[in-house]
Amino acid sequence: MSKKTVLTGITTTGTPHIGNYLGAVKPAIDASENPALDSYFFLADFHALIKCQEPERVARSTREIAATWLALGLDTDKATFYRQTDIPEITELSWILSCQTSKGLMNRAHAYKAAVDANREAGKDDLDDGVTMGLFSYPVLMAADILMFQADIIPVGKDQVQHIEMARDIAGRFNHNFEPLFTLPEAKVDEETQLIPGLDGRKMSKSYNNTIPLFSTSDELRKLINQIVTDTRAPGEPKDPNNTLMHLYRCFASEAESERMRQRFLEGIGWGDAKTELFEYIDAHLTGPRVRYNELMSDLGEVEAILNKGAERAREHSVPFLDKVRHAVGIRSLTDTTTARQQDVVKEKEKSEEEIARAEEGRRRAILMQIRPLLDQVDQAADKAAAAQALVAEKTAEVEALKKKARQKAQNELDLLIEELSALL
Ligand code: TRP
Repeated sequence: MSKKTVLTGITTTGTPHIGNYLGAVKPAIDASENPALDSYFFLADFHALIKCQEPERVARSTREIAATWLALGLDTDKATFYRQTDIPEITELSWILSCQTSKGLMNRAHAYKAAVDANREAGKDDLDDGVTMGLFSYPVLMAADILMFQADIIPVGKDQVQHIEMARDIAGRFNHNFEPLFTLPEAKVDEETQLIPGLDGRKMSKSYNNTIPLFSTSDELRKLINQIVTDTRAPGEPKDPNNTLMHLYRCFASEAESERMRQRFLEGIGWGDAKTELFEYIDAHLTGPRVRYNELMSDLGEVEAILNKGAERAREHSVPFLDKVRHAVGIRSLTDTTTARQQDVVKEKEKSEEEIARAEEGRRRAILMQIRPLLDQVDQAADKAAAAQALVAEKTAEVEALKKKARQKAQNELDLLIEELSALL
């Protein structure tokens, strides 16, 4: 079976936080270690322009996110790691897909609808106020990211599921109208990692301003953990183990360690002590990657080189694949006069030859399978015949011996009678 392709993108607008790490980066890196999967991870920097018009922030976020993935141990020999903007074929595909995407489908996209709803609530006359074409066509660019690499599995947060469904829709329409070039992708949502709590106990998210940056200094990390909201129970009072500290602890610690911590909450560990433990645990876990992160951030040439290599690898696929897409829709060299139909005929012929060969091989095997038990039966019958013959020979010999004996006996009796008779005479 051929390998499945996993693909995901990260919009480069923020500084990576612990929720990103646990919810996206770590599971993706784990997937890239699975030899049954091909993985593509990329920095969605064109997507960043939709949300963010601060050039410095986009540039900084791109550096930080690239360095983060590498510092956390992404092996770029195993995964293809690149910048969306280094693959011009994606933007080109995005246009071709736009021409297959109904506007009505985009009208239903959550992000666009949210903007319209906000305008309606604010009483604006223009419901599209502040909506750019970038925001409106966001799902098409995302479909191009995915369809370009014929990805099967797209690990995303819940808010992105609709976009993957739209990518399927668009792919289906293209496949139907032209050639079936695109793989239909499927979203994969990990429920558990959707629930990483932030400082205030709600889901950790940039938009709630409750995040813990992944690579702050130890001091900053300690300060932030001390800000985590708890109840007012005093040290010694039993505490509900279903709390933010425990939840975060569990994300890093082993089963056994988590269980021990849970017990300590029940036994009344003070919030301050629990925060210290949590800080120490996370700090120890992140020390190695933090050192590497700082190294990479002070040698961005290395990161740039890695991304360039990743783009080269990605383009080994995207360049020839886009050629096929262009051909399928009729964008061709003037001297290329093969039609899709002609190509289809060639393909059909190849396919049917292959099918015939496969069918013949199948038939040969089926005949062999039917013959084999018959051959076995023949062998068995021959064995039985030989055994029967031996038995016949044995019995014949016995009969002969008996006959001989009987004849002998009769002869003896006859001799006796003759003797007696001659005596009488
Ligand atoms: N829109 C995604 C987000 O904000 C990022 C993204 C862009 C993406 N292209 C993608 C995710 C393709 C998965 C696949 O999280």
